[in-house]
Amino acid sequence: MEIVIKNGRVIDPKTGRDEIMDLLIVDDKIACIQAQISTDQREVIDANGMIVSPGFIDLHVHLREPGFEFKETIYTGSRACAKGGYTSVFCMPNTKPALDTKETLQALKERIQKDSVIGIYPVGAITQGIKGEVLTDHSELYLSGVKALSDDGRTTMNPDHMRKAFEASKKLNIPVMTHSEDHDLTERLKGEIYPPKAEYEIVYRDINLCAEVGGKLHVSHVSTKEAANAINEARTNHVKVTCEVAPHHFALSDKNVDMTSTLSKVNPPIRSEEDRKAMIAAIKLGWVDAIATDHAPHEASSKETNYENASFGISGIETAFGVSYQTLVIDENIPLIKVLSLLTYQPAQIGGLENEGVIEAGYYANLVILDLESKWQVISNQFISKGKNTPFEGMQLQGEVVRTIYRGKTVYER
Ligand code: DOR
Repeated sequence: MEIVIKNGRVIDPKTGRDEIMDLLIVDDKIACIQAQISTDQREVIDANGMIVSPGFIDLHVHLREPGFEFKETIYTGSRACAKGGYTSVFCMPNTKPALDTKETLQALKERIQKDSVIGIYPVGAITQGIKGEVLTDHSELYLSGVKALSDDGRTTMNPDHMRKAFEASKKLNIPVMTHSEDHDLTERLKGEIYPPKAEYEIVYRDINLCAEVGGKLHVSHVSTKEAANAINEARTNHVKVTCEVAPHHFALSDKNVDMTSTLSKVNPPIRSEEDRKAMIAAIKLGWVDAIATDHAPHEASSKETNYENASFGISGIETAFGVSYQTLVIDENIPLIKVLSLLTYQPAQIGGLENEGVIEAGYYANLVILDLESKWQVISNQFISKGKNTPFEGMQLQGEVVRTIYRGKTVYER
């Protein structure tokens, strides 16, 4: 199968390419990028006036299988990701059972093979059941295909367990992705908005452990200025640390969101305007390595309760590009190529995806076509995701995904 994407503005963050070009796809790969490619005997996709970018890569989603299929499935989640412009995502292990044995991972891989329209990379648990008590067999999980280790949803509080995780990271050359939350503190604050300290004290600890043991630390969903500063400082001291920021943490704050609404309840919480601005500044300074959604779909009833009892999380995969383009490019004047880099090439590097995140001959034809002029409104009832839980409801955004192509096949079209 040969497809020509005609006249799109091809942006490739790795090489810095930003020009109107044609792109030829042969089977599942990019064959060439040229000013004029013959459309003879080929399917044509007209991208006139549109951006052609590498497909987005999300290092942090919750797809809920196995065990929480009433919140999301691989079938619905992968299609929601495709609608968001994503061609590869890393799914977190806080499922039931957790992604903590080769058997569970094997069953999930079979489900992905059967039901997913995009690439899904499971993240293996650091401890059994994500309980923080007994370590999993990290080498066995690696051999089952995991590209990262995490207890996401929880912090691995035992520092000795974290040392073992960093030892595995060093040996296997995969990152440890950390959820930073001091549970000793937050357990006493049930129903309250967790303070910045609950995050940054754990970030400090993990940076120190990574510096001591080696391996690679990837700090998930950074939300405080103290954490961002510490990560930058560690990096200048040659600690192998990277980090991601979620759209809700750079777009929302106590200034524009009802902090008592269960729809804005997320962990880590939406912060002060000062912290939101610090996330924007960190992106501008190049301290942030990836935009990751922490897509956390929940059934309606788990949010239709009081704040204390509501689930943490935002269904964010379908709003990520609009929120990022509106907030970072339009409102904050950050160059588009930089934002696309945080959505594509940089997360590919962190996640070890060698054939993705780049528009060059030989790479997988994982692409997204974007309409930057399109203005649209967030209406959660139109989400493909089972999770309609969004604090962005009703918001006007600019920048829309019009087509997503995974390995040469269109998996979403507006
Ligand atoms: O808000 C959150 N939701 N934060 C997490 O760390 C976990 C996630 C979930 O699994 O729902």
